[in-house]
Amino acid sequence: MIKYAILGYGVVGGGVAEVMEEQKQKIAALVGEPVELKYILVRHNYPGDRFADRMVMNFSIIENDPEVKIVAEVIGGASAAYDYTKRALLAGKSVVSSNKELVAMHGAELCDIARKKGVNYLFEGSVGGGIPILRPLTQCLAANRIDEVFGILNGTTNYILTAMDEQGRSFGDALKTAQELGYAEADPTADVEGIDACRKTAILADLSFGYNMDPTKIPTSGITRVTEADLELAHALGYTVKLLGRAVRTPGGCCAFVEPHLVPMTHLLASVGGVMNACVVRGSAVGEVMFYGPGAGKRPTASAVAGDIVDAAQHQAFRKDTDLGRSGGILAPADDLLCRWYVRSPDDPDLVQSAFPGAVPVYGSSQECGFITELMDRKTLASKLAAVEAGAAYRVLE
Ligand code: HSE
Repeated sequence: MIKYAILGYGVVGGGVAEVMEEQKQKIAALVGEPVELKYILVRHNYPGDRFADRMVMNFSIIENDPEVKIVAEVIGGASAAYDYTKRALLAGKSVVSSNKELVAMHGAELCDIARKKGVNYLFEGSVGGGIPILRPLTQCLAANRIDEVFGILNGTTNYILTAMDEQGRSFGDALKTAQELGYAEADPTADVEGIDACRKTAILADLSFGYNMDPTKIPTSGITRVTEADLELAHALGYTVKLLGRAVRTPGGCCAFVEPHLVPMTHLLASVGGVMNACVVRGSAVGEVMFYGPGAGKRPTASAVAGDIVDAAQHQAFRKDTDLGRSGGILAPADDLLCRWYVRSPDDPDLVQSAFPGAVPVYGSSQECGFITELMDRKTLASKLAAVEAGAAYRVLE
């Protein structure tokens, strides 16, 4: 019998206990012995809860119990979660996590401790919620040179954009529903300002290119400035608006950024709606593959975390090696990347034509126009935008 503990009993923690319980017979058959929940670390009591008899409030009980071989950290944040993860690894326990903030900020150090202690640190649920993406990227695609990884990496913002676009709902109303559905972070600023997607982009970039990146150095902007006019004009131009996290191989390293993009309606990413996430990987041998599925929520995220518990239980003697990079990140300036840009401007056609000759503006109900530029870097765009009043300028996904 293998015993495990769950740290945190929020949306994901409850889901992990539920999913593991539901599938206990199948899991026992896969592992070769039962995998049983021994403790749940909580901050307050849950009277009447089916797992109430296993709840403890002191992490030391878990840390010092040699029977506990696997710890699922689903607390979130990078303070208590960091302390407990480190202590659990140092106590010789494998740790699995869906905590993207912790993995992005301290994952390399935690992987290093796990390596030295001969245990696993697995974090499939930290990117893409229920979508299997980290194992395919690091194992199934191991024989590829990864050239780019990009996608819709935050369920809350995709839910909001889809609700605004397809149902005409307000930003605030859609965010409230995303919170009620358990998609949003405790502080949804991390979702709407792109910070959550940035952390996931850092993890993908690291596993793709081998450079450990400081997520706070990745240029990031969220969806708070995307307007109804942007969605209307994008449609008129044949696009939709999506928040994309992108990590691109460059000659000297890689660059990474998170920004709203105009995605052609013909691209598969355009049809990824609601809480769904999708991640596209461009590899030297495989070409382009896309992974799609629910990017947030109780049971999808629990599916990934529980999968990691099973994997850790199956690999007690021979640890899995999906380690984060051991060298510092070489972060090239994202501004140098050439792309076409969508520009929204309240100016008249003559002014737009003088700054962007050949631009074909479309007009929406807001009286503003929108157009797509030629290929250029951000500096060139900025110099041209000095001549027109730009309401927004977003990259176009090629
Ligand atoms: N708040 C996150 C999201 C949860 O909306 O995608 C899953 O990481």
